[in-house]
Order: sequence, then C-alpha cells, then structure tokens
Amino acid sequence: LRVFIPCDAAAIAVGADEVTASLRRAAAARNVDVEIVRTGSRGLFWLEPMVEFQTIHGRIAYGPVTADDVETVLDAGLAGGGEHALRLGAPEAIPFLARQTRLTFARCGVVDPRSLVDYQTHGGYRGLERAASMTPDAIVEMVTGSGLRGRGGAGFPTGIKWKTVLQAAGARKYIVCNADEGDSGTFADRMIMEGDPFVLIEGMTIAGIATGATKGYIYIRSEYPHAVATMQEAVEAARRAGYLGARVHGTEHAFDIEIRVGAGAYVCGEETALLDSLEGKRGQVRAKPPLPAHKGLFGCPTVINNVISLASVPVILAEGAEAYRDFGMGRSRGTMPIQLAGNVKHGGLFEAAFGITLGELVDEIGGGTLSGRPVRAVQVGGPLGAYFPRSLFDTPFDYEAFAARDGLIGHGGIVVFDDTVDMGAQARFAMEFCAIESCGKCTPCRIGSTRGAETIDKIRRGENVGANLAIVEDLCNTMKFGSLCALGGFTPYPVMSAIRHFPEDFGYEQRSGQ
Ligand code: NAI
Ligand code: SF4
Repeated sequence: LRVFIPCDAAAIAVGADEVTASLRRAAAARNVDVEIVRTGSRGLFWLEPMVEFQTIHGRIAYGPVTADDVETVLDAGLAGGGEHALRLGAPEAIPFLARQTRLTFARCGVVDPRSLVDYQTHGGYRGLERAASMTPDAIVEMVTGSGLRGRGGAGFPTGIKWKTVLQAAGARKYIVCNADEGDSGTFADRMIMEGDPFVLIEGMTIAGIATGATKGYIYIRSEYPHAVATMQEAVEAARRAGYLGARVHGTEHAFDIEIRVGAGAYVCGEETALLDSLEGKRGQVRAKPPLPAHKGLFGCPTVINNVISLASVPVILAEGAEAYRDFGMGRSRGTMPIQLAGNVKHGGLFEAAFGITLGELVDEIGGGTLSGRPVRAVQVGGPLGAYFPRSLFDTPFDYEAFAARDGLIGHGGIVVFDDTVDMGAQARFAMEFCAIESCGKCTPCRIGSTRGAETIDKIRRGENVGANLAIVEDLCNTMKFGSLCALGGFTPYPVMSAIRHFPEDFGYEQRSGQ
C-alpha cells in the first residue's frame, strides 16, 4: 500500500510528522506492507495533514488527519479508499483544487520532491530537452513571447531581462534565484522548493543556457530550513545524475548551482541588497543604474529572478509560449500562484489565470473569514501592499488593474482581516515595519518611517488629527518619491490606503473614494 503524506513545513507544523510515525507504527503492528512517500503540500492548508492512499481508482485523500485518527484512516485506506468521516475523495476533485489551473504547481503535492526519477516520470526535464535544441536567442524569444513577468512583485518581463544579460558582455555571468520570500502571507516559493525543487533547478539551468551563465545561486531565507535541506538534496541529486556540472545532460553547456542562506533581513529580498549579501557584505541597497543585468554579482551580468518566475520556465519551454500566454488578461499572461492567508477559512495556495477577481478569491475560494465575522479589509502584495475594502473586491488579479487602484499584487499574497481589525494600528504597523527593516541608506525611509509611526500615534490619541494626517500624507509623498528602493518607496501604500478607505479608524470621516 502506497501512502502519501506531505513533508511541507506547513503540514509538519500541524502534525504531519507525528501522523507519519503513527502510521508506520500502526502498519508494523498489523504486519501490513506500507510504503510512505513524503510529498510536498497540495496547498489546501486547512485540510493538512492530508493523507492520500494509492487505490485502483487513483489517490483517495483524508484530512485533516491527527495521530489519533491513524488507525481508522488506515482501515479505510486498506479497504481501497473506504468511507471515513475525514474522507475527502480524489484530491483533484476537491473544489479548491478543481478550480485551479496548475501549470507551475502541477507536480506539487504529487511527487516525491527528493526523487529525480519521479520528477522525470511526471514530465520533468522536458523543458530543458527542448531548450537544448534551441539557440539562446530562440529560448529568450520564447520566454518573452509567453508574456511571463517577474513574480517577485515588480512584474518586469522575464524575457527582456534575460535578453539584456544575453547581450551583455562579461567573462562570467550568473543566474541568481531570489528565494528570500519575506512578504507577509506568502509561501509559494517555499512550497515549490519543498515540494518540487527540480522544477526550479530546471528553470535556472534553462536560464543559464539562454543567457550564457554557468553558475547559479539560490538565496534562501534562513527561516526556511526545510526548503534549504530539500533544495540542497535536489541540487546534489541533479549533479549526480549529470543535470548540473561541467556538461549538463543532453546539452553542450556547463551549469552548476550553489545554495546560500540569508540571515533574516527583509531588505535582502531587494535584488541589489541580495547581491551584496551574496558577496559576503552587509545587505545594503545599491543605486541603479547599473542594473544587475549589466553589472550584478561580483560585477558580472546577472539574471535575478524570483523562484516562481524561474519555476514557470520549464512548462513554457515544454508546452510552448502560446500555451502559457493563452491564460490571463491584458498584459498579465499565464497563471499566478495566489496565496490566501490571515483570517480566512480556506487558506492555501490557489494557482489561477490572471483575471480572477479579489472578491471571488476571498469570498468564494477562501470561504470568507475563519472567525465567521464579515471581511472588512484585505492586504494584497505583502507588508508594502495596499489595504483594499470590500468596495474594491471587483478588482481583477492583474498587475495593471491593481496599480490603477493604488495597489499592487506583489508576490501574490492576500491577507484577510475581519471587522475587528483596527486599521489605525495596521497603518502604524506599516511604518514600524519599515523603521525596523530599513537598511538605513536613505533619509526618507530611515527617518520618515520613525516620524511616521510617531505621527500616527498622535492621530490615534486624537491630537490635532487633521494637521497630523496632513503631515503623514506629506511624509508618505517624500518616502514614495525620495526613497532608493521599494521598502521606503512602497510603505506609503498600506498607510495611505488605510487612511483613505477606513477614515473612521483615524478619528475622522471621509467618503472612501477609489
Ligand atoms: P524595478 O521595477 O526597479 O525592477 C524590476 C526588475 O527588472 C529588476 O530585477 C530590475 O533589475 C529589472 N530591470 C529593470 N529594467 C531592466 C532592463 N532594461 N533590462 C533588464 N532588467 C531590467 O523593481 P524592484 O525595485 O526590483 O522591485 C520593486 C518591486 O518589488 C515592487 O513592485 C514590489 O511589488 C516588489 N517587492 C517584492 C517583495 C517580495 O518579498 N517579494 C518585497 C518588496 C517589494
Ligand atoms: Fe535602505 Fe530604506 Fe533606502 Fe531602501 S528605501 S535603500 S531600505 S533606507
């Protein structure tokens, strides 16, 4: 009997390891032969730990399973996916999963992340195979044609970034993967690294072939020990199998990858601070130009892409640019792994074509709040993203649509709040977060954030509310236009959106505009 239990950090946090141990003991006591495969998570976190049994009708899932449920769940599994109060049926038929378009996350929760053979059996390395027969220009053109844009948050076209590096002169070039996933409510990078690490390795290898880079670094935040361990094992397995090294399997190219672990600074997710950190310096933002694509790591032309951008490349190469571009709306093509978090009933990862509305995501897919109270606000795009009220729930998930409403989709995180949220406290938190995480290089961010937190405190105490709100607005403008990077530059988004859409929480009433 084959049983699948996630080894994803979120599943482990709610007892997946205990369930695994308990299942092993129960099977041994009954003398039944059970093979337990630890997979990544399917991303239905409220059902974790989710246990799946291989049956003649495909996999049958049960969840959320506790160690106490194991005996009876094993009975049901041994009966070929029998009845049980926790029976969920075929995982693909669970509405949360059935409504998704899984391109980047197709294998996540399905395969054994440590098995290269399993990866290949499920379509892995087909993208590289195709890339091996193409010229670098043709690969870059295909990625450009797919419409893929940077999934870290800025949405810059990936193909154009690659083209700049391909055309840049340099004795060495690098591919750097930004896995410093620091946004609140986001976990897509972590899930890929823990659940399907070879897709990232394949994507980086294709990027190397396309741009002439021979070395890749994956910069992972230290808060992700499981991802670090899984990626490390996967890199070694790929190297053993000849998929990394002096001559990548099936190609004429050299490419290898090294894992580096960050030390817990949000600003190191900013690409140039990340480069400084990789070079062994304190992570501080560099002025641009020069762009990293021209002068990046150790002064060489460097592609820096987010995990999801790189992990989306293999499917584009394997299926073709059109197949990917066919999904989405406007200039936002393909799919986006959206992460539902905070006070939400059905939290998890939902990969969907761009265009789905915020309301559908929060109310239908997320099922509203976990507390059962009305949704009052959502923050989209991490700690620097804007707060949206219900009146903006018709906004489609699309880079431009969010920007048009003074928001950003960022890395695709949605954090849900119910009607007990104090938006004054949230606005203050944004300033405080910026003050704590500021690298200190420029004044608007370093000083502005501290003064901002103090001024919001005054407003919350009812002191000269009108005058102090004007100061906060002025400060926000200075930060927005005078900061060197997105940390100082984007902190005004949560602050100003909170003031604009929830004026009653700041001691004054103003009609919420768009
Ligand atoms: P940016 O707009 O300056 O650059 C975007 C990317 O395109 C960078 O990699 C840049 O080097 C590259 N680029 C720009 N012009 C280029 C050209 N002509 N050729 C080649 N490459 C070019 O954005 P930045 O400052 O890197 O990031 C800001 C964004 O990051 C914000 O939109 C925010 O949403 C997002 N963000 C994400 C966070 C996360 O944790 N995922 C945290 C904070 C911000
Ligand atoms: Fe550093 Fe803040 Fe300036 Fe960014 S905006 S460079 S984090 S001081």
